[in-house]
Amino acid sequence: MKVLYFTATGNSLYVAKSFGGETYSIPRLLKEGHFHFEDEKIGIVFPVFHNSVPKLVEEFLDKVTIRSKYIFGIATYGMYSGAATRTLIEIGKRNGFDFSYINEIVMVDNYLPGFEMKKQQGGEAKKLIEEHLSQIVNEVGIDRKYIRKHSAATELIRYLNLKLYDKEFEKNFTVDASCNGCKTCERVCPVDNIKVNKQPDFQSNCQHCLACIQNCPQKAIHLKNEKSTERFVNSNITLREIIDANK
Ligand SMILES: Cc1cc2nc3c(=O)[nH]c(=O)nc-3n(C[C@H](O)[C@H](O)[C@H](O)COP(=O)(O)O)c2cc1C
Repeated sequence: MKVLYFTATGNSLYVAKSFGGETYSIPRLLKEGHFHFEDEKIGIVFPVFHNSVPKLVEEFLDKVTIRSKYIFGIATYGMYSGAATRTLIEIGKRNGFDFSYINEIVMVDNYLPGFEMKKQQGGEAKKLIEEHLSQIVNEVGIDRKYIRKHSAATELIRYLNLKLYDKEFEKNFTVDASCNGCKTCERVCPVDNIKVNKQPDFQSNCQHCLACIQNCPQKAIHLKNEKSTERFVNSNITLREIIDANK
């Protein structure tokens, strides 16, 4: 089994690893130009962004060819997944992927403009992540056919959310005096959008993933309107793994 994933704070990597197959990072595949996969089973695991599929994942799926009898897609999300699975189905259709299984799993919501990270982590137990995850892993294990569908009304929400893909998102970032120039932000950015000289300099291709902010050891990077000074990274995943995934 091969599982292709995108992660900023580890939730999707944790899910991807749970299947026990070989894992491949989508940002790295894009950088390396690796666009052909064949296996008995192939999975795509990604976080929901703005009620949809992250642009970077869509860009990858528009380029890749996948040969497999069983293709599955899993969206990790925190609060409301909106049109994410509908969008995945649509991307699959236009690229000739016949998904056998699409599902989603609610985890900690890492969206700083919306949530306080401590409260999110306090509510983790209620989300029954392990139970849901082991059910999904079992279902994929027995080749279950299932497509999680959402109503067409979510399309409107997706449309409105597209506006959130502000081209100048990086202008919402500030860096405080605790920054020691360690370059972790540069290393965890999936699209090499950050260059650290003494402090991070944000270029104009930000994907909004918040990996730079959430993984900063000094908590020195801030987002305008953030609801949290605390930061979140999935406790099962190390910083090294996130750097390896996105460098
Ligand atoms: C830019 C951005 C947009 C997000 N949009 C949504 C959303 O629309 N709905 C939702 O439930 N969670 C949303 N989230 C939360 C993530 O989907 C969720 O925390 C995910 O599990 C993070 O995965 P990761 O740790 O692999 O990066 C968003 C997060 C970010 C950074």
